[in-house]
This record gives sequence, C-alpha cells and structure tokens, in this order.
Amino acid sequence: MSEHCHVVLHPLVQHKLTIMREKGTSTAVFRQLLREISQLLAYEVTRDLPMTTSTIETPLAEMEAPRLAGRKLALVSILRAGNGLLDGMLDLIPSARVGFVGLYRDEETLEPVEYYFKVPAELDRRVVIAVDPMLATGNSSVAAISRLKEAGAKDIRFLCLLASPEGVERMRQAHPDVPITTAALDERIDERGYILPGLGDAGDRMFGTK
Ligand code: URA
Repeated sequence: MSEHCHVVLHPLVQHKLTIMREKGTSTAVFRQLLREISQLLAYEVTRDLPMTTSTIETPLAEMEAPRLAGRKLALVSILRAGNGLLDGMLDLIPSARVGFVGLYRDEETLEPVEYYFKVPAELDRRVVIAVDPMLATGNSSVAAISRLKEAGAKDIRFLCLLASPEGVERMRQAHPDVPITTAALDERIDERGYILPGLGDAGDRMFGTK
C-alpha cells in the first residue's frame, strides 16, 4: 500500500488467514494458525534489523560471519488479543523481552484509559514491536504507541493481522514514524468498529470466550 503499511502477501500467510477468517474454524485451529502466521509475520517485521559480523571458527576454517547487531528486541502486546501473537513470535525470537499495555475505552469520553503498563527496561535502546491482531479504529493502538514513546521507545514497529484503511490512516497521522506490517488490509470498519470482512472478535476467537 505504502511505505508506512506493508501487506505480507506470502501465499502461506494468505492461506492461513483465509482459514482463520472462516466462521466455522474452531478455537483450536484458529489458535494454531495464529501461532504459525505470527511466526511468518515476525520474520517479515524483523527483515531490516541491523546486522554486524563476528569472527567464528567452523570445523574447517575461520570466517567473518553475520549476526544481529547489539540492539535488543522488545515485543509489546496490546491486551488482550495481542497476547495471541506472542507465542509464535517468541518461537522465532526467543531472547526478546516482553511488555504489556492494557487499555479500555471510557464509555462516556470514548477515550482509551490505561489499566496496565509493564515494559522491559531501557526501552529507548530496543527495537520495539507493538502487536495487536486488529488495527480497526486505531484508537487503542495509537494510545498504546503514545504511551510507549512516553516510556522512552524511539524505534517502534506495529504488527497486526488485519488492518482497516481508517486505522492505517489514523496511525499514519498520529505516528508517521511507526511502520505497520499486516497480513491484509480489509475494506472498512462498521458502525461498531469491527473490521469488514474481517474475522470477528479476535480475542473471542483465539480464547474461545464466545
Ligand atoms: N477488534 C476485533 O477483535 N475485531 C475487529 O473486527 C475489530 C476490533
């Protein structure tokens, strides 16, 4: 779509997402596919991590070999549905530190209110990947990222499963420095803030709460 929003069109991602969207897909299958797809999305969102080299010895020779440069990663889950993306991402990046941001919507002011915030130390020295499966209105994601910036984060990326054009635009206006990686950009949000055609309530589908 743009440099700000990268849609991962890999066939495996698209196939898994189609099964997740189907209303008859069970909680167990949804959860398994979410784990698999989040590994593939983690692969994409870390594609440009800074690299360095070090001298190593193979059984046959010495070589200058590539490795990740010193900056550490932090994954930050936007509760509760963000947690569904963590396991798969940690399969791929086991040394990443993990943080959590919890927000709810005040029904009178409609503003996001923070109820939980716990993030790794030295956020300013980490690549921070904020995760939430659904970028719908963008309200909670924008607020969570503002909070991460207040806590010192400087290099933030946002990873989701589905995005709406409204959510992408809201994020681009509020946080133009935060690139978005998603498996699909859907048509729009409905009057209740659900993504269409979407996959329904991501939290309910992954945790079986409905
Ligand atoms: N959150 C969800 O879980 N689903 C949507 O469609 C939008 C927000």
